[in-house]
Amino acid sequence: MGFPFPSPAIFSIAILFFVISSYSSLASSVTKKHFMYKGSSLLVEDYLSDLLTSPDETFTCGFYRFGTNNRFSFSIWFTNSEEGSSQGTVVWTANRQHPVNGRGSRVSLQRDGTMVLTDVDGSIVWFINTNTTGTGVDKAELLNTGNLVLKDPFGKILWQSFDSPTDTLLPSQPLTRHTKLVSAMAIGTHASGYFTFNFDSDSVLRLMYDGPEVSSLYWPDPDFTIFENGRTNYNSSRIALLDDMGAFLSSDRTNFFASDLGSGIKRRLTLDYDGNLRLYSLDESTKSWTVTWEALPRPCDIHGLCGRNGVCTYTPKPKCSCPPGYEIVDPSDWSKGCRPKFNWTCDQTQQYTFVEVPHTDFWGYDLDYRPSSSLEHCMKLCLENCSCEVFVYRLMKGTQNCYMKFALFNGRSASDFPGSAYLKLPRSLNLTSAKTAASTTLVTSDYTCRPEEVDPVEVGSSQTYNANNRRTRWVYLYMFVFAIGIIEILFLASGWWCLYRRGDGVSKSTANGYHTLSSEFRMFTYSELKKATGMFKEELGRGGSGAVYKGVLQDDRVVAVKKLGDVLQGEEELRAEVITFGRVNHMNLVKMWGFCSEGTHRLLVYEYIENGSLNNYLFSNASNNSNNGAILLNWRERFRIALGTAKGLAYLHHECLEWVIHCDVKPENILLDGNFEPKIADFGLAKLSKRGGSGCQFTRIRGTKGYMAPEWFLNLPITAKVDVYSYGVVILEIVKGSRLSDWVVVDGEEEAELIRFLWVARKKIAECKDDSWVEDMVDPALKGQFNQQQAAIMIEIGISCVEEDRSRRPTMDAVVQTLLDCEDDPKLVL
Ligand SMILES: *[C@@H]1O[C@H](CO)[C@@H](O)[C@H](O)[C@H]1NC(C)=O
Ligand SMILES: *[C@@H]1O[C@H](CO)[C@@H](O)[C@H](O)[C@H]1NC(C)=O
Ligand SMILES: *[C@@H]1O[C@H](CO)[C@@H](O)[C@H](O)[C@H]1NC(C)=O
Ligand SMILES: *[C@@H]1O[C@H](CO)[C@@H](O)[C@H](O)[C@H]1NC(C)=O
Ligand SMILES: *[C@@H]1O[C@H](CO)[C@@H](O)[C@H](O)[C@H]1NC(C)=O
Repeated sequence: MGFPFPSPAIFSIAILFFVISSYSSLASSVTKKHFMYKGSSLLVEDYLSDLLTSPDETFTCGFYRFGTNNRFSFSIWFTNSEEGSSQGTVVWTANRQHPVNGRGSRVSLQRDGTMVLTDVDGSIVWFINTNTTGTGVDKAELLNTGNLVLKDPFGKILWQSFDSPTDTLLPSQPLTRHTKLVSAMAIGTHASGYFTFNFDSDSVLRLMYDGPEVSSLYWPDPDFTIFENGRTNYNSSRIALLDDMGAFLSSDRTNFFASDLGSGIKRRLTLDYDGNLRLYSLDESTKSWTVTWEALPRPCDIHGLCGRNGVCTYTPKPKCSCPPGYEIVDPSDWSKGCRPKFNWTCDQTQQYTFVEVPHTDFWGYDLDYRPSSSLEHCMKLCLENCSCEVFVYRLMKGTQNCYMKFALFNGRSASDFPGSAYLKLPRSLNLTSAKTAASTTLVTSDYTCRPEEVDPVEVGSSQTYNANNRRTRWVYLYMFVFAIGIIEILFLASGWWCLYRRGDGVSKSTANGYHTLSSEFRMFTYSELKKATGMFKEELGRGGSGAVYKGVLQDDRVVAVKKLGDVLQGEEELRAEVITFGRVNHMNLVKMWGFCSEGTHRLLVYEYIENGSLNNYLFSNASNNSNNGAILLNWRERFRIALGTAKGLAYLHHECLEWVIHCDVKPENILLDGNFEPKIADFGLAKLSKRGGSGCQFTRIRGTKGYMAPEWFLNLPITAKVDVYSYGVVILEIVKGSRLSDWVVVDGEEEAELIRFLWVARKKIAECKDDSWVEDMVDPALKGQFNQQQAAIMIEIGISCVEEDRSRRPTMDAVVQTLLDCEDDPKLVL
């Protein structure tokens, strides 16, 4: 035949091999080891099953996978806690700076008692040598406290992970003169960052920013003395401990307590990547972490957050920006700060001017301090001294004081700061353009999607494998066999689909999870859809995951066909969407009738919803969709849309077989049918998570800016409460009739419209004794034609849904109940 593929027999053997190997890994995951004896190893390939667990199974130790990358670390983690990761919250890592490859890496307890972590090329990444202690190591053991120990035959501990913490301290793990917590660099990495927590040379526990350029202490408050901060430097024993009740007691009197003080709760004290020290408690029911204490309730007080020349502001989330005359160095890394758009020269020809940045301070780096001086005098002094780059003019102890600075570090803005910073800038700088440029660079790294990290060692990359040709060939062979297996599985699957379509093979074997699909649901061919949509003529809309076209099927059903853009991403989304829709059926959710996966084409076929999306009706001015723009939704319709959307989400969150989080709730994804009944669309971003399982796993930030809950930006687990937050924004927009998710520039600062709305609403609610405040908050286009009680309840629901603290947000069930309670009110107008 000349065809270079092996015979069908080899296909089958490959499949058999594939099936057997997946079965054996499933079977072995049941056995739990508590010890590792001399001469044994943990292999990275078996990272799901080759694990050590503590006797009570709270902790697991083994290879930990970073997201979906091919990078692993040897770590200890909480067995059953989510944290945006598949396996659990990591508390310790061996050599955080050096992740290892997902193939060929291993941890061995060698015969001579040395514990070694080796990478794919055999290089030693980390090792513990207890060879010097006389008696040798007998075994490694993971204790119930989360401590990995090496013991000799008599049970004596020769080495313990508790002595070399990373960023986390566990209850009963002492912090001593020799130990130090170091934050991680960013979410999703374990590499060391710039923040540290340890006993300083004067025996006081401190948080320090230790960056590439400068170091500075920021906690306890550096503006006060040790004793004013309630600490002491008289006790040099330098020991601190978090006990099982949640009390942290230290020899320097740094004492603090978890807000849920008591025994039987799993806790951890972590120096987070943002430089804040937080005490967390595990909620056993949701498997998520709650902050029960934090060192700095005002995160902008953390030094180094926004880098040199950067300013931290509350929006209310802490956010970095560059002051006028400065521009961002690296938008993906704020620790690099801002650079001046001019050159600092110190000759008499350079003319300077001052630009006031109100309510802003730059901490430290004082050149000179002049108490009770006038602003003019302060300006004159700063002009005369070449080293002066900025001065802070502030009220302190009843007088106006002048602090001249030779560098801009630790900038922070807060409306209650009683003073201003005056930046010294060259007169030649075009300040009007400087100002606008400054506000356009108001982007934090937090608001951009973090690109997926690049694997340091790619399997099969030539430079790694050149020296190892034999292994390479094996890798390729396995990959080949694997690929053949996949092809055959796809072949079988498509065969099954054909049977299914003809209806003569109604599925009995349902292992692939498609069995709950309704009979309407089917697979389409590409040519069929091309014909139905008239070569994709009429575009209905375009979203992050692809464009949607209108079409008519042969049986005259009108459909919306969504063409997924990026093929790689398309496959993932397709699967998520197919499985989700196969199981979801609710009047407030858009129905999916089928899909197509052919070559590079990935298409989804939905029921066609005639009135388009909610945004066209709410924000008529902003809409391009002119034919719908003129229709105004009346109050009754708005209330029904709010209620229907809540019902749809409540169904997703609480009622379907699998727990579904939508992750991108916004008016664009709420479609309206002929009766203006809402139907939630676009589950492309949703991921399934088994009820009571380990929660959602997200490798990248999903959603739409303005509707996204703070959890996405903080290192917090993603739960159904992210949808509650987005729903809160939407319900407020329904009432207000305008975008609250937009960002506006106020006084050169970017601010969410929502924040202003909340501020006004809370103020009005506090000031008014009756419901008269509602009038001002409702869409003026309704001309007063609305139900005041319903509006008040909707605004209150909205406000509670967008609480920063997700535990204070209601569930969608509760929202539905509250709305139902005021549904048939006799006072209903219209
Ligand atoms: C352990 O000690 C023995 C004898 O003292 C020595 O030969 C051996 O190389 C040591 N092993 C390691 C890993 O240091
Ligand atoms: C120093 O602190 C330790 C630990 O808190 C405590 O046990 C010890 O009594 C203290 N020493 C003095 C002299 O206060
Ligand atoms: C600053 O000086 C450097 C060289 O001295 C020059 O290349 C650069 O253009 C100057 N920048 C500004 C903004 O004047
Ligand atoms: C700037 O002020 C500091 C502190 O008063 C002083 O030590 C320094 O010499 C001054 N530099 C110049 C160039 O005047
Ligand atoms: C300053 O910037 C503005 C806006 O970019 C521009 O129109 C104006 O010409 C600039 N002026 C100078 C002196 O460069």
